[in-house]
Amino acid sequence: MRISMIAVIGPIKHVPKENITPLEYLPAHLKYFEETSTDKLLVMGRVTYENTCTFIGKPLGATLPGRKIIILSRTPELTYTQDNENLFQASSADDAIFVAYQMGADEMIVVGGESTHQLFFPLTDRLYITHVFGCFSGYQYFSKFTLEDWKVVSRNYESANKLNPFNLSFKVFDRTRQEAKDKKIVTLENFSL
Ligand SMILES: NC(=O)c1ccc[n+]([C@@H]2O[C@H](COP(=O)([O-])OP(=O)(O)OC[C@H]3O[C@@H](n4cnc5c(N)ncnc54)[C@H](OP(=O)(O)O)[C@@H]3O)[C@@H](O)[C@H]2O)c1
Repeated sequence: MRISMIAVIGPIKHVPKENITPLEYLPAHLKYFEETSTDKLLVMGRVTYENTCTFIGKPLGATLPGRKIIILSRTPELTYTQDNENLFQASSADDAIFVAYQMGADEMIVVGGESTHQLFFPLTDRLYITHVFGCFSGYQYFSKFTLEDWKVVSRNYESANKLNPFNLSFKVFDRTRQEAKDKKIVTLENFSL
């Protein structure tokens, strides 16, 4: 199973308008996110999951069409996960990977937020990075990574336009330096709960 991570990165400076989330300025990223994540298993920290429900105007317990979601949380039982067969809870990274293996997922995409990205970064094989050439408020620190350890396997650009006020790049990076990752690889044989 491939472990991937999707993230928007960009300078953190200024609030364009109050009460508007950065994603509302990024319809092209939302489209890319949908294309990349449909039919995949997603992992979200509890905060990002709850923010996502608010963003899409759905109650807690909802999922995104065509996707299964694992919510990372230390809360013993999130009651809102109980009525949706496409929603799961995991209490650690190992637990999430175990759930994903049990489902037979071929790719697990870590959506964030910041603490969840940090937790999974050492285990990640692939990065889907949208770079925003603009200034946002409230966006997160993303793990620094050196290009020596990663190679760009695809890149696309979208120029600013009426709907998308910022230039964007969409790059996919695959990890090249395997030895660092192999030390931390988790398999069904060696994982610990
Ligand atoms: N740039 C991007 O692409 C991107 C993507 C998504 C989100 N974001 C941003 O990220 C921010 C939210 O990030 P965040 O770090 O505050 O929240 P988060 O990662 O979405 O969720 C944090 C929660 O996840 C659970 N958790 C974290 N580490 C855990 C661990 N090791 N074991 C078990 N549970 C764990 C905890 O839930 P419990 O409290 O329930 O125990 C924790 O409160 C927001 O500002 C959002 O806008 C950015």
